[in-house]
Amino acid sequence: MVEKIVEVCQLRKEFGDTVAVESISFDVRAGEILGLLGANGAGKTTTIHMLLGLITPTAGSIKILGSDLSHDRVRILQRMNFASAYQSLPYNLKVWENLYVFAEIYGVKNSKDKIQELLDRFELSHLQKQKTGMLSAGEQTRLSLCKSLLNDPDLLLLDEPTASLDPDQADKVRKLLLALQAETGMSIINTSHNMLDVHEMCDRILFMQRGRVVAAGSADEILARFESSTLEEAFIAIARSPAMERV
Ligand SMILES: Nc1ncnc2c1ncn2[C@@H]1O[C@H](COP(=O)(O)OP(=O)(O)O)[C@@H](O)[C@H]1O
Ligand SMILES: [Mg+2]
Repeated sequence: MVEKIVEVCQLRKEFGDTVAVESISFDVRAGEILGLLGANGAGKTTTIHMLLGLITPTAGSIKILGSDLSHDRVRILQRMNFASAYQSLPYNLKVWENLYVFAEIYGVKNSKDKIQELLDRFELSHLQKQKTGMLSAGEQTRLSLCKSLLNDPDLLLLDEPTASLDPDQADKVRKLLLALQAETGMSIINTSHNMLDVHEMCDRILFMQRGRVVAAGSADEILARFESSTLEEAFIAIARSPAMERV
């Protein structure tokens, strides 16, 4: 087993004159849940998209599962997956069909059993014959999470997974993801604005501000550094402070 699942070194992304991500470096260890936090526009999604190989970094390197993403993209991506509250699966397919198509793409063995198991765990079984476009935002998010677990990923990237969930659903999803992580030992990178998510789920947190990582550590370390009693307070302190030095 590779101890460091992700190794990001001096990663940078410019979009024209905008520096979306400015020289960030971090690791994710095997079995770790890393939280990526920061105000809107801090660079979280851009970072996730570079880790998925969807956009090419301007500079820096990304190693995943011991290999360079730019050299070994296909093999690495087979062992990863991704869910976002902001990306929907094809609307005109039924719930079950959507999962079946992705299971075929990923080459999942015993795909029917796997799909059933995930639909049951995410409480979507009763909707399996429903058109995806008819689902509520919360149901679509849970479907997207099912899709992201079809291939038993070693590395799961989540972009605001609970953004459209009510507190009860969000709580269920957090507990489910924690249970799945404990069962499989996968690593997770989780971006969220929900501080409860982060506190409950993440072993370690990276705070981003304007494309830089400006604080890193456990929730308790972050609270101590910003003399805050909650992560929400720390988040606001960072979001409102002038440009901070990168760590
Ligand atoms: N495709 C793009 N073209 C131009 N600018 C972009 C693009 N994607 C993101 N940005 C800019 O990069 C910055 C970081 O965005 P993003 O990574 O989406 O932040 P976050 O996910 O933390 O809210 C923002 O200023 C955003 O406007
Ligand atoms: Mg984003």
